[in-house]
Amino acid sequence: MTFPDGFLWGTATAAHQVEGGNHLNDWWAWEQEPGHIKNADKSDPACDHYRRFREDFDLLKSLHQNAHRFSLEWSRIEPRPGEFSASELRHYADVLQALRERGMEPVVTLHHFTNPTWIAGSGGWESRETAERFARYADRVVTELGSLARYWITINEPTVIAYQGYVKGEWPPGKRYDIDRVARVLANLVRAHWLAYERVKSRHPELQLGLAHHLRVFDPARPWVPLDRAVAAAFERVFNGTILKTLRRGELVFPLTRADRASGPRPSQDFIGVNYYTRELVKFNRHYRAELFGERVLPAGAPRSDLNWEIYPEGLHRTLRSLRGEGLPIFVTENGIADAKDAMRPAYLLAHLTSVQRAITDGAPVRGYFHWTSLDNFEWAEGYSAKFGLIACDPRTQERQLRPSAQLYAEICRSNRLPVSVEIPPAPPVDEEPAGRVDLR
Ligand code: FCB
Repeated sequence: MTFPDGFLWGTATAAHQVEGGNHLNDWWAWEQEPGHIKNADKSDPACDHYRRFREDFDLLKSLHQNAHRFSLEWSRIEPRPGEFSASELRHYADVLQALRERGMEPVVTLHHFTNPTWIAGSGGWESRETAERFARYADRVVTELGSLARYWITINEPTVIAYQGYVKGEWPPGKRYDIDRVARVLANLVRAHWLAYERVKSRHPELQLGLAHHLRVFDPARPWVPLDRAVAAAFERVFNGTILKTLRRGELVFPLTRADRASGPRPSQDFIGVNYYTRELVKFNRHYRAELFGERVLPAGAPRSDLNWEIYPEGLHRTLRSLRGEGLPIFVTENGIADAKDAMRPAYLLAHLTSVQRAITDGAPVRGYFHWTSLDNFEWAEGYSAKFGLIACDPRTQERQLRPSAQLYAEICRSNRLPVSVEIPPAPPVDEEPAGRVDLR
């Protein structure tokens, strides 16, 4: 039940979700428009973490976390093209220093969903130039801050950016499905990663760079129906497989090849970041053209989070095992649950960590786990309604309150082992009539 020596234990956050005061990016603009965010919530003040980071790190340290994943806000660092803010770079140097002083290993994300307004205004990820500009920003940041952190994540969840922003249109820039556009966006995100990897590694070969992949399990809703099996396999290939395969080969694979040809360095990841939350069942539906003809449904009777995402711990085990062949260290860079009452989170934590442990026993080189998240925060289109925190945080009072699972997690971090062995509940039976549609997120 013990985890390997030196295992990294922490939580993950993203600048726009916790800092407050980020008014120079595309998300802030998006939040101002009615209907985009639940309850018309705004990301300011979020957790006011931009000012309170030291106290917040004290709290996480007191909970025995020895690592922390967070993101830099590009729009603060480069508010205008080519103009880098010395004071914001200093701020993030202070943040990194604060982690080091507390003995917490930083994992720094360079891009977590938000784009400076000037990037969004000049074509965003549809433009190839954005990849160049991102690499210039990455290069500059690492020149300034590279000595303070060893682990760097270029981009968080490229497939989610493409899906939410360019298929569903529920996130900025709010565009609807067009296969060529989606391919272009994904290709530019990959190019951005490649260029940043090349630049940063050529100067700082000692740094470890990766990408945070959103991976989920797709199973056929009716395993006995060949078309359901086919669409589930297509989801697996496109959503989970495309970026991994592209990076492994060093060239764009379908559907990115619709964008045009491009190749990149090999290798271009020093570790694999895995964000795992849930599983979806996929059912063939000819009306779902924009979604590979797959309607995503929940198994009847499945335990679910406040956001209606299935709780499926075995999926993390399956996902980590499937990455063994990549031959790279793995970090679980996000895993967590929206659960305001903290009724399901303790069991969720134990079961998912049991899955991590099983994957390690099966030979997956998992080196760390970052729970999503420390504090309740601005959960994108869900606003403050979805509560993912080990610690409750009220944006009006800024009061922080530990949930019971924060203590449970603290005990795991402290002892580097699971306190009890848990049985992973068997997956609920897959019903002939799955229980309603879910949202991919
Ligand atoms: C992930 C995102 C993170 C948060 C969690 C709940 O997809 O990376 O910012 O929204 O989901």
